[in-house]
Amino acid sequence: MNSINGVTVPAQPVRVNTYDAGWYDVGLRPILENPGLGGNDPFGNPLSWTEYFQKVFANPQNSFKVPGGGLTCIDANGNPVVPPAAPIGSVFVGEVLDPATGTPIISGGLQKTESTDVAGTFKTPQLRNVEFNGPYFHTGGKGTLRQVIDFYDDGGNFPNMTLAPLIRPLALTEAQKKALIAFLVSLTDERVRFQQAPFDHPELVVPAGQDASGNDINTTVAAVGAAGATTPISRFLGLSPFAP
Ligand code: HEM
Repeated sequence: MNSINGVTVPAQPVRVNTYDAGWYDVGLRPILENPGLGGNDPFGNPLSWTEYFQKVFANPQNSFKVPGGGLTCIDANGNPVVPPAAPIGSVFVGEVLDPATGTPIISGGLQKTESTDVAGTFKTPQLRNVEFNGPYFHTGGKGTLRQVIDFYDDGGNFPNMTLAPLIRPLALTEAQKKALIAFLVSLTDERVRFQQAPFDHPELVVPAGQDASGNDINTTVAAVGAAGATTPISRFLGLSPFAP
C-alpha cells in the first residue's frame, strides 16, 4: 500500500480504459453477441466517439480525455479498487489520482492503439416516469422494476470484460429492494400518468399493417385533451412494479 496526501491506496497499477461518457456496460448480454456502442455504422465507422477518433484521426491525441470523478478501477487481480480523489485544496481537486504517481489518472491525449471499454456499452437512460417504461433495458429483458433491481443486485447477468466496476453484487435486503422500487415509482409525474397537459397528445394516425392489396391500414388514436384522461396509462402487461 502507498499513501498519497494521507490516503492509503493500493500499490498495484490500476487498469483504466477510455470510453464514451454516459455509456456503460451493465452486463445484460455477452459483448460478442451485443456490442452496443462498440459496433459500426452501415459505412463501417465506429459508433463511439472514442473509437471513431482512434480510427479516423491520424493523430487522435488532439482529442482530449476527461477523468471521471469517483471512478472505480480494476487492479492487477481484476478486483475493483477506488483510486483516491484529490483532496479539497489540491490543484487536482475533482479529479482521481493515479496511486503510483499522485497525478490525475487520465490525462493527455487519446492514443491510437490504447484499449477502450467501449464494447458492450449502452446509453444510460434518465429514469423519469420509468414506471411506464417497461419492458426495461434495450433488450426489453426485464418486465418489472423488481426484476431490474434483482438484476443489479446480482451484479448483472454476464461478467463482461468491460463491465462497469459499479455493477457488482449488492446484497440488498428485501426492505432495501422495496424502498428502491418505491423511490423509482416516486419519479412518476401524475400528469404523465393521466396524460394531462403538457403530456396530452393530439389525434394520432398510426399505420397498422396493410390490406390484401398492399394499401396502408391506419388506426386513429383520439386526442386526449389538456384535462387528460380519466383512467391512468397502464404499465407493461399491467404488472405491479414490485412483481418478481
Ligand atoms: C441500483 C442502482 C440502479 C438502479 C435502480 C438503476 C435503474 C435502472 C433502470 C430502471 C434502467 C432501465 C430504464 C429503462 O429501460 O427505461 C436502467 C438502465 C441503465 N442503467 Fe441503471 N440503475 C442502477 C445502477 C446503474 C449503474 C451503477 C450504472 C452504470 C455504471 C447504470 C447504467 C445504466 C445503463 C447504461 C442503462 C441502459 C442499459 C441498456 O438498456 O442496455 N445503472 N437503470
